[in-house]
Amino acid sequence: MFDLLIKGGTLPDGTVSDIAIAGDRIAATGRVEGDASEVIDATGDLVSPPFVDPHFHMDATLSYGLPRVNASGTLLEGISLWGELREIATVDEMIARALTYCDWAASMGLLAIRTHVDTTPDHLRGVEAMLEVKRRVAGYIDLQLVAFPQDGLYRTATGRANVLRALDMGVDVVGGIPHFERTMEEGAESLRDLCRVAAERALRIDIHCDETDDPMSRHVETLAREVTRHGLGSRAAGSHLTSMHSMDNYYVSKLLPLIAESGMTAIPNPLINITLQGRHDTYPKRRGLTRVKEMQAHGITVGWGQDCVLDPWYSLGTADMLDVAFMGLHVAQMTHPEEMARCFRMVTEDNARIMGLEGYGLKNGDFASLVILDAGNPTEALRLRAERLAVVSKGKVIARHNRNDTCLSLAGRPESVRRRHEGPER
Ligand code: FE2
Repeated sequence: MFDLLIKGGTLPDGTVSDIAIAGDRIAATGRVEGDASEVIDATGDLVSPPFVDPHFHMDATLSYGLPRVNASGTLLEGISLWGELREIATVDEMIARALTYCDWAASMGLLAIRTHVDTTPDHLRGVEAMLEVKRRVAGYIDLQLVAFPQDGLYRTATGRANVLRALDMGVDVVGGIPHFERTMEEGAESLRDLCRVAAERALRIDIHCDETDDPMSRHVETLAREVTRHGLGSRAAGSHLTSMHSMDNYYVSKLLPLIAESGMTAIPNPLINITLQGRHDTYPKRRGLTRVKEMQAHGITVGWGQDCVLDPWYSLGTADMLDVAFMGLHVAQMTHPEEMARCFRMVTEDNARIMGLEGYGLKNGDFASLVILDAGNPTEALRLRAERLAVVSKGKVIARHNRNDTCLSLAGRPESVRRRHEGPER
């Protein structure tokens, strides 16, 4: 007797399989006989492991327009606006906004999120708020927190001390922002310092690295070297890496093998990178995205991150990782069928590897967390940004949507034209 049986779904690799769930784990796959307390018919639908977002800022989310909108649309005005907002936002306000976002995420099948939390202010209210959010959503979302010195590790008097305080409070991952330090040398020193901290504390590290159009911003080189020196491997990630789009090709031909040798992973954030980068250009105007396909060709794990939803840096967003992958597919020109399928894996399997999630997948014994999509395969899910028909987190159905308001696509497949957000009960 199973608790939940999902019948006849199509897995991302095209296999048709039942999935039987007992407690919080997958108990059987393939053709499953037996009774269950609840049965969901997923015939013709895509059944995928849940979406994963390895790069987000939950302390700032859903604050768009506070204290006013970002008029220039630049990264630097966003940082400045956030600097004002973090001083007036209360812990309760940040918790409330983050919990609303987690409802949206859960309803979209996004069940694991790595969020950077700003450790710049000495009050550390954002850290306090996000630790509480992590505790409250633990039953249905895996939240990983990064101690992120938004204004630089060395640019403020207490920048370094506050990162360590946040880690002592229970934040999971070491963060940094070398391109925002005062000098290139101080940026490089911040990486040597932070990688040492990560190694000594046996923590993961995720660096906002070279989020600039300046091709001479080469901190990723130092990051890769320090990751290799300390043997951090895939426990280390470089986020954004946008300057690589404008680096000299000869230099990149040396850089990519160094990144691959280190084993570190990469997290571009296409919605934000295409929006914020290239703002100083006239024409030709740069796309702002790092070298995704080239890194993958070197065996480097690359995932798509979302970064922002309705905050000082980005005025849109729905917690839908299919939107993120859809934008990434376009900007990186990943239009071959294998590349489109890869884009889906980037917001599922590859992101799970980046976050180091245990028990992620659809095998026997994995956590019974999955999403049923109104699509026949991953590429169709991307094309339609398909409806999430049901979301299961650790054995519990936490969201359901109707196959509503449909029209016929050219292929004759019902195509959802509206999506709603319905969060789980806490
Ligand atoms: Fe970020």
